[in-house]
Amino acid sequence: MKKTLVLEVDSQEPQIEKIRIAADFIKKGGLVAFPTETVYGLGADALNSQAVRALFEAKKRPLDNPPIVHVGDVRDVYRLAKEVPSGAEKLMKKFWPGPLTLIFARSEIVPSVTVAGLDTIAVRMPEHRVALALIRESSCCLAAPSANLAGRPSPTMAKHVLDDLKGRIDTVLDAGPTKIGVESTVLDMAVDPPKILRPGGTPYEVLKRALTMVELHPVAVAEKDLAVDKARSPGMKHKHYAPDANMIVVEGKLSSVAGKVKELEEFYMRKGRKVGVLATDETVSYYRADVVKSLGSRSDLRVIAKNLFRLLREFDLEGVEVIIAEGVSTEGLGLAVMNRLRKASGYKIVKASRR
Ligand code: TXA
Ligand code: MG
Repeated sequence: MKKTLVLEVDSQEPQIEKIRIAADFIKKGGLVAFPTETVYGLGADALNSQAVRALFEAKKRPLDNPPIVHVGDVRDVYRLAKEVPSGAEKLMKKFWPGPLTLIFARSEIVPSVTVAGLDTIAVRMPEHRVALALIRESSCCLAAPSANLAGRPSPTMAKHVLDDLKGRIDTVLDAGPTKIGVESTVLDMAVDPPKILRPGGTPYEVLKRALTMVELHPVAVAEKDLAVDKARSPGMKHKHYAPDANMIVVEGKLSSVAGKVKELEEFYMRKGRKVGVLATDETVSYYRADVVKSLGSRSDLRVIAKNLFRLLREFDLEGVEVIIAEGVSTEGLGLAVMNRLRKASGYKIVKASRR
């Protein structure tokens, strides 16, 4: 067991002395959790293979699922990538710093463990001031997956990081809850046309406006477990975002969804299960389950994305055995929300339709 140091820092004007303490851990090969605008990440020096190995171990992450490398300066991309296509340069200018991860062919300087043996690398420049300050003060690029135990919902607060990783990491920089709440969009720029491997904080519609051609990889919109090509989307085959409870997602028109959720909640309650319903403001008063929570109003998918992982963790803390979740629109951030809900349920999806 390590002693995990908690450093509270200002999200707008991070105190440099605290950032330096965290950066010293990174320089010595240690592990530092830090906020980004999406979720908290767990950082290690991306070019130090021993530090990256410790990172996988702390998270209990399978070694075949590579982390994202976070940079503080666009020039670093040219060191990490063998080739930077002009389309990617355009995207970096427009969307960085921000919730967009780009996949490139990788250069020789990157240790094999950092990319899980692949010939590509995932890179992003986060927007959060604490993240940028840490990267710059550490004078290195940070390999940083989300700061949760593998398979658990991503952390949107320092408390979630500690719940999963206390005693396993050196320090966490606590700057309060993260703004976006779902992870970055992962866009493969090493194929033509570019493909979205994971929908996230930068919506598909926004990327479509910026690029002449961009496609959604089937895994990004999957409604069942797909057999995938490991080299293209290594993270897709692992269990993800899942609470301990069994989860069912009900999709369809809202009028039919609420009826179906109610039917399922009654079914499991009659069986004596502790039931949770993940609802929205429009429907929350309709349910009678043991624990009913609202993601927010359907009219603001940003709020829904921001609340998602926190609420999944809260159901676990309350000992819920079955979670029935309402599906939401797949527009904008909704596609990322639905991708996480479907995966968290292990693709237990019920289509509600009016009879
Ligand atoms: O918002 C985010 O992206 C957060 C914050 C901390 O930046 N990070 C994050 O990292 O979600 P992680 O490691 O939990 O997810 C990285 C995703 C995984 O699905 C992984 O499989 C994929 O990116 N990935 C990494 N390297 C890849 C590569 N070379 N080719 C394809 N996918 C890759
Ligand atoms: Mg993750």
